[in-house]
This record gives sequence, C-alpha cells and structure tokens, in this order.
Amino acid sequence: MKVLIVGGGGREHAIAWKAAQSPKAEKIYCAPGNAGIAQVAECVDIGVMEFDRLVAFAREKDIDLTIVGPDDPLAAGAVDAFEAAGLRVFGPRKNAAILEASKAFSKDLMKKYEIPTAAYETFDSPEAALAYVETADLPVVLKADGLALGKGVLICNTREEARAGVRALMMDKQFGAAGNRIVIEEFLTGREVSVLSFVDGKTIKVMTSAQDHKRARDGDQGLNTGGMGTFSPSPFYTKETDEFCRKYIYQPTVDAMRAEGREFKGIIFFGLMLTEKGPRVLEYNARFGDPETQVVLPRMKNDLIQVFEACIDGTLDQIHLEFEDNAAVCVVLASDGYPEHYEKGFKISGLEKFAGRDGYYVFHAGSRFDQDGAVVTNGGRVLGVTAKGDTLKEARANAYQAAEWVEFDNKYMRRDIGKAIDEV
Ligand code: AMP
Ligand code: GLY
Repeated sequence: MKVLIVGGGGREHAIAWKAAQSPKAEKIYCAPGNAGIAQVAECVDIGVMEFDRLVAFAREKDIDLTIVGPDDPLAAGAVDAFEAAGLRVFGPRKNAAILEASKAFSKDLMKKYEIPTAAYETFDSPEAALAYVETADLPVVLKADGLALGKGVLICNTREEARAGVRALMMDKQFGAAGNRIVIEEFLTGREVSVLSFVDGKTIKVMTSAQDHKRARDGDQGLNTGGMGTFSPSPFYTKETDEFCRKYIYQPTVDAMRAEGREFKGIIFFGLMLTEKGPRVLEYNARFGDPETQVVLPRMKNDLIQVFEACIDGTLDQIHLEFEDNAAVCVVLASDGYPEHYEKGFKISGLEKFAGRDGYYVFHAGSRFDQDGAVVTNGGRVLGVTAKGDTLKEARANAYQAAEWVEFDNKYMRRDIGKAIDEV
C-alpha cells in the first residue's frame, strides 16, 4: 500500500516512523516532510494547505491512504478535498475538525451535552468582554476562538492584564481572525494530562496517557510554546480517573458530535485538567498532539495503518489497542529564543548516534538539508529526543543522556521535563 502523510513536524516524523513498520506500507511519501522524515519516507515539496496539488499528487502516485497531521489543513477541509476526489483519507472532515478549530463551538458542545469543563462566556465584541473582566473572578482565562498555534490562551492574574489581553486578542488582533471572538473562562487548577484516542465515528479507543510541558522555561516559566517535552504514561492518570473520563467525557464527546451531524473520524486529543472536583476538559484537538505523539506511538504495539483503516471503515470496535508496559520521555531540543526570535540554518551533528540503538529515537521537528546535503536547523523546535525505560525515571535519565548526543548552535532545552514524576 502507498501512503501519503501530510505535514512536516515531529508529530509527522513519529507517524511516518510508526507507519513504516506496518507490513502493509510498501512506500511512504510525506508532504512536505523534513530531513528526519526523509529517512523513512520520500519527501515531496508540497505545502500542507495546497489541497489541489496534494490531491493531484495522490492521484498521480496511486496513493491508497493519506493521513493529515496538522490542525490547519484539517480545519480548512483537507479531508473533504481528498474525499471529493474519491481518495481514501484519515482525519476528521471540516465540519468535525471544528471541535478544535473553534473554542466557542467546543465549549457550547460541552455545555449542551453536560461534558465537564470550566465555566465560560463567549464574546464577539471587545466592549462586552472588557465589561465582563471588570467583575470576573481572578485569575481569569482568555482564549482566542480560532487556531493560534496553541498560543492564543492568556491567563490573567490581574484586571489590568485581563483588559490588556482582551485588547491584544480582539482589537490588536495578535492572532488575526482567531481573536474575532473570544471565550473567557474560569481558571482551573490541577494536573494536566493529554489523552489521545482513535475514533471511527461511533467507537472510541483511548491510547495511553501523556503530559506535555507547554512553557518555554524551567519551572513552567516563560511563554507558551507548542510543547517543550512530554512523558508517558502520566502517573496522575489513575484507573478511577480513566473510568470517569470514559463514562463522562470520551464516549459522550463522540456521541455528541454524531448527534450534531458532525460524525468525527480521526484522532481526538483530550486536554484534561485533573481538578479537586474531578477531571475537566481544557481543550479538544482534532489531531495527534505534538510532542505527545513522540512518546505515545513508540509505546504502541499495534499496526498503525491497520488502526487508521479501522477508523475509516467504522470497524474500530474490532481493534484491541495495546501499549508496552514501560515509559517514554521526549525532550525537545529548540533554538534558543523560541517561541519568539531565533536563528535557523545551523548544522546538526551527532544524529548518527541514534542508529541501531533500541529505545532511543530522534524525531525531527524543524530540520532540512542544506546545499551540501548536511542536516541543518530549520525551526524553533528542532528535534524531539525520545527514550524509553522500564520506569519514568529511567526513561527520563535515558532521554537526557541522548539529548547530549546531538549538537547545534543555540541548542536549548528545558532541564526539568518529567520533574513531576518525582512527586509520585
Ligand atoms: P489550551 O490551548 O486550551 O489547552 O490552553 C493552553 C494552556 O493554558 C493549557 O495547557 C493550560 O495550561 C492553560 N489553560 C487553559 N485553560 C485553562 C483554565 N481554564 N484554567 C487554567 N489553565 C488553563
Ligand atoms: N502538545 C500540545 C498540542 O499538540 O497541541
């Protein structure tokens, strides 16, 4: 079978790497891919939003299955474009990808179907939002309605910060049209957990849990990023929590989407907060998480292509998902200055040290080949170094050791990925 993966980050590298292990996959293409993905797939220079070119490529190469990785093309209808051309594709249609693409939609859905989440109000006008923050409990959370690379969430500790936040999102349009509407919600406290799941429209199969570290600096300081590192499983995600979530969050979400005429096929990523009052949904994503995928897929025993096909065919109830009884930690190696200003184009050395080392992986997030064929940095997040271990502590020690194998100018990493493990 010929497979096309759309995307070019660490998540897509992990998907391509895992898909390549399937006996079903004869040939894998990735658009646009990156220098790491090129080890497992043939990269083609087509952007993720160029639907006409992607569809034409899939037709020309007789692609049997396309997998769309990132949120932007999903929200813009990439899956619909492939389906309209009669091509087999994995991911939610536009009308279902809205689960991530509009926070107002997802909050209203949760309210209507009584899925536990933070209390909230939605605002279309900055005047009304400004008036609301004058009396809201502090801290208060402001969220741009639309997609903003995971950065459209502002936690405001004072009224002045909240006023400035409303102005930045709705008036200065810091995140463009994503801030035409905002959600203002109650601040929750607790442990955060990411739970990814496969969904075929009616059945949901939940993967092992993970935890991301979204802030740029140690001790959860600094700006929000796409994610600086992950560990899996989360020791805080207990059996009781899992049971609660299956009953009140996971299946109810799938059923709610179906009831709304927005059947969801693909990946639902549940961003949860484990509060004193029980688990609450912070957000939904309509795709694999990045860098959660880099710790979840290495622990998965199933044939990934087979699971994707079951989602498309509506036969997920026949799949038994299995994960290894171990742990994994991913440390992101970034360019210093990310997520604001950083330089690109530095040579990366040491990548060969991962070859043939079981349980150690380097997933490329932002890399490319220079004119001489050398691998150079090409993004804020450059690499995700993942290592497995029998325990979380062992996996963390292994990941930090492997993070030293690679060098490039301005290399930056958080030193405390998985520190929470020590509290267990
Ligand atoms: P989101 O993109 O909705 O996941 O938000 C990004 C981050 O903001 C989350 O990972 C949380 O750390 C934080 N956050 C979002 N919503 C809330 C909330 N209601 N209370 C506290 N923190 C939140
Ligand atoms: N790691 C968080 C995300 O993928 O949105």
